[in-house]
Amino acid sequence: MEIDIRNTYEELSQRAKDIIIQEIKKNERLLLCTATGGSPSETYHMLGNEYQKQPKLFDELRIIKLDEWGGMPMDHPSTCESYLQAHLLQPLHISASRYIGFNSDPEDPLIECQYIQEKLKREGPIDLCILGLGMNGHLAFNEPADFLHPNCHIAELTEESLQHPMAYEMSVKPTYGLTLGMADILHAKMILILIGGIHKRPIVGKFLSQRITSLVPASFLWLHPNVVCLIEKNAIE
Ligand code: PGA
Repeated sequence: MEIDIRNTYEELSQRAKDIIIQEIKKNERLLLCTATGGSPSETYHMLGNEYQKQPKLFDELRIIKLDEWGGMPMDHPSTCESYLQAHLLQPLHISASRYIGFNSDPEDPLIECQYIQEKLKREGPIDLCILGLGMNGHLAFNEPADFLHPNCHIAELTEESLQHPMAYEMSVKPTYGLTLGMADILHAKMILILIGGIHKRPIVGKFLSQRITSLVPASFLWLHPNVVCLIEKNAIE
């Protein structure tokens, strides 16, 4: 794993944006898996600015949503869908045919998982996967547990995940999570994990200890051959 420590969130985002652009230049049909939340927001904003300069570069880019809050209407302002629409899909003009994403309120969540899995099988593997680090060490909604799941699944959300700012603001809480599984993530050709903020220090310490445990799902990234971990300096003790 390449650990790259940056002085500010701005610098971290700049580096992340440069890596994404470099990968799109190598492969215009890149399948980019996108986390939501605070960590990648500025990176996505910078990608939007890049679109203004060179729109053609994004003509064939494909995007897959990493996870979603379950039981919420798609157009609820706090869904991952609304976030991605506003931060990435609209700014980069990603057409519906170049986007794969869980429905946040499916009739049958299990069938929804099978549907996304099938799409990933057809379009995948993921070329570049953008991740954040959960306060409890989760990756997407692969939550700390005795065992982890390889593929798309319905996740029981932990209290820590429900404390995330996206869910915290919801008056009616999501009842479950929908997420790509550990193998779906670890089969990505390249992974970029973005970590910032003093509040992440305790979990960053566990993550950097290289002790691989299902109690810190992000620790499995140490098994992957091509991970860049961008950390803001203030997230390290
Ligand atoms: P954050 O969320 O990017 O908002 O810190 C990461 C996560 O909880 O997975």
